[in-house]
Amino acid sequence: MGGVPRDSRPDSTLALLSEGYRFIGNGCARHRSDVFETRLLFRSTLCMSGAEAARMFYDSEHFQRRGAVPLRLRKTLFGMGGVQELDGEAHRSRKAMFMSLMSSDGIRRLCEQAEKHWRASIREWARKGRLVLLDEVQQLLCRVVCEWTGVPLPEAEVVQRTRELTALLDGAGGVGPRHWRARLMRMRSEVWLGRLVTRVRAGRHAAAEGSALRTVAEYRGPDGKRLGPRLAAVELLNVLRPIVAVARFVVFEALALHEHPESRARLLEEDDDEAYEHFVQEVRRSYPFMPFVVARVRRDFTWKGYHFPRGRRVLLDLYGTNHDARLWERPHEFRPERFRTWDGSPFSFIPQGGGDHHTGHRCAGEWSTIALMKVAARMLTRGMRYDVPPQDLRVSLSRIPAEPASRFVIANVRAVE
Ligand code: HEM
Repeated sequence: MGGVPRDSRPDSTLALLSEGYRFIGNGCARHRSDVFETRLLFRSTLCMSGAEAARMFYDSEHFQRRGAVPLRLRKTLFGMGGVQELDGEAHRSRKAMFMSLMSSDGIRRLCEQAEKHWRASIREWARKGRLVLLDEVQQLLCRVVCEWTGVPLPEAEVVQRTRELTALLDGAGGVGPRHWRARLMRMRSEVWLGRLVTRVRAGRHAAAEGSALRTVAEYRGPDGKRLGPRLAAVELLNVLRPIVAVARFVVFEALALHEHPESRARLLEEDDDEAYEHFVQEVRRSYPFMPFVVARVRRDFTWKGYHFPRGRRVLLDLYGTNHDARLWERPHEFRPERFRTWDGSPFSFIPQGGGDHHTGHRCAGEWSTIALMKVAARMLTRGMRYDVPPQDLRVSLSRIPAEPASRFVIANVRAVE
């Protein structure tokens, strides 16, 4: 094909599994190009990295989402028929439903509820000797998101529901049992939330005005129709699942505070919102979370002399773009103060996708993620004291989603009121 450097391997799926977050960056370095072609899951796939590629990727004239996401991710992480796979008017309308939940008032309530649950959890942790922070924060955020969205969560179900919601992401990047477990958990969660939506519509469960539960239950698409209960469950899960997943970023915040004690000292010293904001942004830039996003070429076009044929699957490297040395000085150093002078480009800093939140596919929950991470950073620095016992804190870039091997154990927690 017209000029795009091509991998010689017959299929690179195994290389993707072993190279993980570095897969696209390695390929670009090998081919000395921002774009290369390879075969993944036995399909020709174009892989791209960098801000220019991101700008092009988010041009909906060039790319579409329909038919882009492989079935194994639709059956686990995303569900079938959700906002991620829509284009055009159907996408804009469904996306507006999500964005209506992200008002400053909505996010303020989310943070208040988060702080309340953090303080309760810290008191609880103080009674335990040691605990695994990732597991605990996932449960904490499961309580928060259920309260915020209006989904009832009896205390006895917290552990099980957290397990279901975390499996969707954890299983998405896995093969074998990890993957099959995620499929089962998706079926269970969709039944759970589909029944709840049906009860709301029948007037058998009251959902507060403006809550995600009520918003999704009442939403009507451009065709004037409501979402079927299963699809409504898919969209509710698009709020529940990622808010619980913010726990992964929280653990990376704890890791950053541990690995860079000067950051903790600065936050304790300065106590201004901007210092917390820069810390959170640098955690989102530095640590691995979503490796890439996927789309398909809508119609033939040429970019930088490379031919992009209609229908071809394309991956945009999020991790690599956030570590691109052309965009970030000494990209592998943890330096929150770099955000003091960051130009705010929607294509260079893309941990949760790029482009526009309303008209494109950029993450609907980016502002709520930042807000929840700020609450967490405050709690980890000012709301509690804790010890970090010896453990294996290495983060393998082969495992998607990434996490410290020990999932971050803390001990001897003391609440600071
Ligand atoms: C889309 C990452 C948190 C809701 C995305 C995308 C990424 C992403 C990479 C895809 C962008 C694209 O396709 O171009 C993350 C990460 C999070 C996070 C790393 C941290 C935990 C959240 C939260 C919510 C949320 C908290 C909801 C409260 C969504 C939705 C979409 C999306 C609904 C689909 C948007 C669309 O297709 O138009 N996210 N996200 N995410 N995210 Fe997030």
